[in-house]
Amino acid sequence: MDKALHYTKKHQTQFLEQLKSFLRIECISAQEAHRPDMVHAAEWLRDQLTEAGFVRAEIFPTQGHPVVYGEWLAAGPEAPTVLVYGHYDVQPPDPVDQWLTPPFVPTVRGDDLYARGASDDKGQLFAHLKAAEAYGATAGRPPVNLKVLVEGEEEIGSPSFDPFVREHRDLLAADVAVISDTHILGRDMPSIVYALRGLAYLEVEVTGPDYDLHSGIYGGAVNNPINALCRMLAGLQSADGTITIPGFYEPVRDLTDEERRELARVPFDRSAWLEEAGVATDWGEEAYTIVERTTARPTFDVNGIWGGYTESGAKTVLPSKAYAKISMRLVPDQKPEKVAQLVREALTAMAPPSVSVEVRDLHGGDGAIVDRNSQPMRAAFRAYGEAFGAEPVFVREGGSIPVVATFQRELGIETVLMGFGLPDDRLHSPNEKLHLPNFYRGIETIVRFLTFVADDR
Ligand code: BES
Ligand code: MN
Ligand code: MN
Repeated sequence: MDKALHYTKKHQTQFLEQLKSFLRIECISAQEAHRPDMVHAAEWLRDQLTEAGFVRAEIFPTQGHPVVYGEWLAAGPEAPTVLVYGHYDVQPPDPVDQWLTPPFVPTVRGDDLYARGASDDKGQLFAHLKAAEAYGATAGRPPVNLKVLVEGEEEIGSPSFDPFVREHRDLLAADVAVISDTHILGRDMPSIVYALRGLAYLEVEVTGPDYDLHSGIYGGAVNNPINALCRMLAGLQSADGTITIPGFYEPVRDLTDEERRELARVPFDRSAWLEEAGVATDWGEEAYTIVERTTARPTFDVNGIWGGYTESGAKTVLPSKAYAKISMRLVPDQKPEKVAQLVREALTAMAPPSVSVEVRDLHGGDGAIVDRNSQPMRAAFRAYGEAFGAEPVFVREGGSIPVVATFQRELGIETVLMGFGLPDDRLHSPNEKLHLPNFYRGIETIVRFLTFVADDR
């Protein structure tokens, strides 16, 4: 382990240069025009796996974007098998004009590396390849059997990836999964995520008249679908954030007193949080703290709303159509399909006879809670403690990584969420970055973890 750690320290500059070439590939899974870049990234990863020492490295085409798979099973049948998961796809960089340097021109400023995907998830995923390489170069092989599974559809709801996991249960069999796709509390404040929220994502289409009408001629007697949509959406949530969709909270597991006490121990600086979010004050369910609201409570958000005339100047129009994209963060045991159905029923019930409403299910994912007392979890705890010089705390995460539930369901394994991003990495926002000291410490954490998982079994 010490030799591998030394190797990672010696090769930091090289690792950074390699990561930069990964970040130059514009693999935006949501945009059809980038399909060739998706293939390019998959090939780049496959070659990196081979270079790092993986015995098997191949690309599995899917209906959507390819899956990359690598294997290095040299530790023997007695050693545990660790399945590393990551995603090579990234979110669109928009709004591009708000980036200080172009999103696909990775740039180091101070201790940070700026690029789309730097933290989510290319940088964090790449750390696992480098940890494996460090063992290969110094000990001939990693201390555990390694399987690496990388998808290109995480940011669009993994439409082909879920079936892929189901169809390759034997190939993917492992003792535990490890994912680095979350953040820790602060530079010197490591944390381990033990719960993730789920997600239900819908699109609503409201139709009024057959075509856009003159609002002077018809206004007052023809219902405006945008007005109707706004009223309907407003009917799904009260002003304090409570969701008023009938049945919505039924499966929600309320926080136990013990869990609330624990969450209250998570270091949280309200004014720093307000500044980071760029808001004057917080909002939401008063009965819950900000930490609880953002990680352990379900939410309702309109992600986009459009229709009618939106170009410059004024046009007096009574539009034919109104649209909205809405999403809900879910907590165990809410099911995305069930929530989508409840929303559909609520909107349909609220729609006045003067408009029609259609609700489309875009995608969803289950939330998850993982076992905090497993041996790999203890190994992770020790690895973070040694690499960061501080004991990690257990936290819940508000974002979603649906594959954690997929692995529980399809492979019967728990996941260790070994993230090392930072809360201000600006995932999905302009000027996403990766704090380089975290990248290097992340690699060291993984190196330690692999030995600890192998050791105290
Ligand atoms: N890495 C994120 C999940 C995440 C978000 C972890 C925030 C920690 C903090 C992941 O790539 C992501 O963005 N997931 C999507 C879900 C998906 C179904 C589109 C999300 O949370 O919106
Ligand atoms: Mn991610
Ligand atoms: Mn993401």
